[in-house]
Amino acid sequence: MAEVAGPRSNHAIGVFDSGVGGLTVLNALRQVLPEEHLVYLGDTARVPYGTKSALSVRRYAEQAVCALSSRQIKAIVVACNTASAMALEHLQNCYPDLPVLGVIEPGAEAACRASRLGHIGVIATESTTNNQAYQKAILRLRPDARIRAQACSLFVALAEEGWHEGDLVEQIVARCLQPLLLTDQQFPLDTLVLGCTHFPALRKAIASVVGDTIQLVDSAQTTAEAVKRELETKALLNTEEGRGGLTFLVTDGPERFARVATNFFSERIDPASVELVDIQHYTAER
Ligand code: DGL
Repeated sequence: MAEVAGPRSNHAIGVFDSGVGGLTVLNALRQVLPEEHLVYLGDTARVPYGTKSALSVRRYAEQAVCALSSRQIKAIVVACNTASAMALEHLQNCYPDLPVLGVIEPGAEAACRASRLGHIGVIATESTTNNQAYQKAILRLRPDARIRAQACSLFVALAEEGWHEGDLVEQIVARCLQPLLLTDQQFPLDTLVLGCTHFPALRKAIASVVGDTIQLVDSAQTTAEAVKRELETKALLNTEEGRGGLTFLVTDGPERFARVATNFFSERIDPASVELVDIQHYTAER
C-alpha cells in the first residue's frame, strides 16, 4: 500500500501483535471498518511475548508502536493480549495525541455481556494471566463476577502449526483446561474468554471440550467495534470510497509469516508483499 497523503482521517490504522495471532483482530477490523487502510506489524523475531517479563514486553511494544507511528498512522490497535495487559497504559502515556486501543477491555466487555451468572473463566498466556489484567477489567465492569484464570501457552504453538481440531488436539485442550473446569468446591463457569489472539483458531476444539453450557467469547469483534467508536468520536473515520489497503511488516521471516497467516487470516497474503523491518532502534518520544 502506498502511503496515503491528505487529511489525517485518510491515514492508516496501525495494528501490532507479537506475531501472527493479531490477524484474528485484523479480520474483525476488515469486516467492521472495510474502508480503512491497515498497517499490520508482527514482531515475529521476538514472539512469543506470553512467556516474557513485563519489562521486555513493554520495551518491545514501545518499539513496535514507535515504528508504526513513524508512518502515516491515525490510531494504534495493540492486537496482542499480552502486550495490552503489560504495556497499554505505558503506550498511551507515550503517545497522548494518538488513540491507542488494546484488546483486554473489549474482551472483558464481551465476557460481561455474554455471562448470565458472572461466572467467568479466562484462558490466556502465562504473562497475561499472571498480570491479572482480564480479572481486573471484568471486575471493573461487573464487581460481583467470580473469575478463574488458566494459562494455556501451549495453544499458541498448536494454533501456529495448524493443529486446530481432531482427537489429539481435544485431548491436549482437555488436559490444559482440566484445572479450570474442576468444579469441586468451586463455581461452575458459564463463560470462557479466549484471552489470547491465537485461541480463536482452536475455538471448535475448545467448544467441544467445555460443552455447550459455557459460552466462548473473544475480543476481536468488540475491539473492532471499539476502534470504530473511537474513530467516530474523533472524526477520524476514512472518508474515501472503496476497500482500504493492507500493508504487512514483520521483524523476521516474511515467508513463514505469510504461510502461517493462513491459519488466522481470511485473505491470502503474498509473501513478496510482506516487508521485513528492523524496529529495535526505535524509542518512543515522551
Ligand atoms: N499474541 C499473544 C497474545 O495475544 C500470543 C502469542 C505470544 O505469546 O506472543 O497474548
